[in-house]
Amino acid sequence: MKQIRHFLDLDAFDRKTLDAILRNALRLKQPRRRRADLAGKTLAMIFEKPSTRTRVSFELAMKELGGDTIVLSGKEMQLGHGESLADTARVMGGFVHALMIRTFAHSNITEMAAHAGIPVINALTNFSHPCQVMADLLTAMERFKTLKGLQVAWCGDGNNNVLTSWMHAAGIFDFSIRIAAPASLAPDAATLEKAQAKAKITYSDDLNAALKGADIVLTDTWASMHDTNVDERRRLLTPYQIDAAQMQLAKPKAIFMHCLPAHRGEEVTNAVMDSAQSVVWDEAENRLHVQKAILLWCFGKI
Ligand code: CP
Ligand code: NVA
Repeated sequence: MKQIRHFLDLDAFDRKTLDAILRNALRLKQPRRRRADLAGKTLAMIFEKPSTRTRVSFELAMKELGGDTIVLSGKEMQLGHGESLADTARVMGGFVHALMIRTFAHSNITEMAAHAGIPVINALTNFSHPCQVMADLLTAMERFKTLKGLQVAWCGDGNNNVLTSWMHAAGIFDFSIRIAAPASLAPDAATLEKAQAKAKITYSDDLNAALKGADIVLTDTWASMHDTNVDERRRLLTPYQIDAAQMQLAKPKAIFMHCLPAHRGEEVTNAVMDSAQSVVWDEAENRLHVQKAILLWCFGKI
């Protein structure tokens, strides 16, 4: 039986496949034009959390590849009223050709993938955000040509879904990550250990040490959509704000990255967001190009 091509987590992939997806994303970016590769195919998108970039970029990606989309809110579905994930997945598998889901527990997505019978794409869980990091990798490649040997500084929330996917990518693309986070928001020990077996990834609570000589400075919102301890996080993470002085510690050609939405004045200042070092708008646009390539891979066209 042909294996279903799910896109769930970067650590399930080899270098060759991710390279092929990124190379295709670049080809689809320049020149950007309407194509017919996915004519007759429909992607259903289920959102259990809000979204701007993911929703718009996936919807446009399918349309520009000649396919269709259906956008669903988890709350408005029977899923939000007691129907099981497995049954929802089986039903959706009979209607559409691929399923994208943004949800809470990571097990929700693995369960849907086990029962859908069609490709399932992870559009963010509490644990990981692989589509975002593919766009981030493309953005970094555009600036540095290669990811090999780069020094990445992750600053702030160490228990973060975007960071998990960056840790997965480090082992595949051979770059290092220094994570700076307060002790109570340190990365999950099992996730960190697993990633450390494949890449040079260190953790400490020292922001300046992480930033020193970095090629890429990364941060994210202090409280993710699933986090409840917002006030405590604000207190703990205030010393981890990235401002112009912190950027000075990184290499002169360092770039600033953020998956967005950003909370200006919290994890990052306006001066950094709007500086020449900031590549946040490229990251957002690259979601479109990378997701086209991910969709083509899911449909066996890469
Ligand atoms: N970065 C990202 O996933 O943005 P949205 O929440 O707007 O989709
Ligand atoms: N860590 C953030 C990412 C948003 C795209 C969150 O989960 O809310």
